[in-house]
Amino acid sequence: MIKDSVVQFFKDNYSPNPVIVRSPGRVNIIGEHTDYNLGFVLPASIEKAIYFALQLNGTNTFNIEAFLTLPEKISLDAKGNGPEFSCFWGKYFKAIIEILNEKNYPLKGVDFVFGGDIPIGSGLSSSAALCCGFTYALSKILHLNIDRTEIAKIGQEAEHRIGLNCGLMDQYAVLFGKKGNALFLDCKDLSYKYVPINLVGYSWVLINSKITHELAVGNEYNERRQSCEAIVEKAKENNSNVASLRDVSEDAIMAIKNDVDTTDFKRALYVIQENERVLKMIKALENGDAKEVGNILLAGHKSMSTDFEISTSEIDYLVNVSQEQDGVVGSRMMGGGFGGCTINLIKDKNVDKAVKKILTAYKEETGITPECYHLQIDDSVQTLNS
Ligand code: GLA
Repeated sequence: MIKDSVVQFFKDNYSPNPVIVRSPGRVNIIGEHTDYNLGFVLPASIEKAIYFALQLNGTNTFNIEAFLTLPEKISLDAKGNGPEFSCFWGKYFKAIIEILNEKNYPLKGVDFVFGGDIPIGSGLSSSAALCCGFTYALSKILHLNIDRTEIAKIGQEAEHRIGLNCGLMDQYAVLFGKKGNALFLDCKDLSYKYVPINLVGYSWVLINSKITHELAVGNEYNERRQSCEAIVEKAKENNSNVASLRDVSEDAIMAIKNDVDTTDFKRALYVIQENERVLKMIKALENGDAKEVGNILLAGHKSMSTDFEISTSEIDYLVNVSQEQDGVVGSRMMGGGFGGCTINLIKDKNVDKAVKKILTAYKEETGITPECYHLQIDDSVQTLNS
């Protein structure tokens, strides 16, 4: 198991008694690009995770080493300065150390080794797991007492500094997720409740398209956010109480349709309707109505693809081909867009056959070998015993 390898590597190369922290990835049942518009989301923390082994080193230096896939080591002083590094992940740690300094948390040197099994760039939020796990681990070992909401905000701020103007969905899933449940989060007041997503006779399955997209590198994600903000500015002219798209109704956006950019309009309408889909999804899950759940997933994907324009031809193929299989009731792309995983709801009795057919068809169509994971919802970030 990856956790054991990380811990053993730490013991062999650093010190014998590390603290161990597990920080999970996340899925999202529905509610994409709604978080930074202060809308609704329905994510869940999963069993795939990043593991940190760490211990105080009696200096003022952070030594951080990635285990396995990214074999690189960086050193940063207590202010976040240090020799140049080329690894992308190093930027996140540096940003977090800088933010903690700005917030006047007293820092001391720590040795870290981390590694995990969240596929990078697959829409499962490995960067939120990294940022929130690192901050949580530092808070534990240095007794900083940073509460979970604050850790989420620090994780988000780190993403903003690296270049992704994200919302808080991923960080909240990492920090507040709970085994067996999805987290229905209202991004306006950050209130949440747990929602079981098990539907008797059905399974949730993720299919990784293996199309990876570093959202923080391209500008497509941030452009979507700008479109939403442009509509908010216009809507404010009619109603000064509007602070985000959450405050804009479908009627209100229709009223300004001819005064705004067509692309911005389509994108913002998608967000307003996506919020509605989250609410409908909660009802459908509560009613155990798998057919309706499937229809909402498909409607969400269609609008993400044609209106919000964040899908790719490969992902659209994956969603479409899944619909041709017996027992697949719904499918949609998950996460920030432009690649990653689809989430699928499939009748138990059809799962094996349907997944096999989807994987084969996708490989034939694209030449890419996809992967499949059965969704397992697990707990939020936590300290483990070694
Ligand atoms: C990324 C961002 C999140 C959210 C999703 C899309 O994962 O980090 O804040 O906006 O995309 O729903």
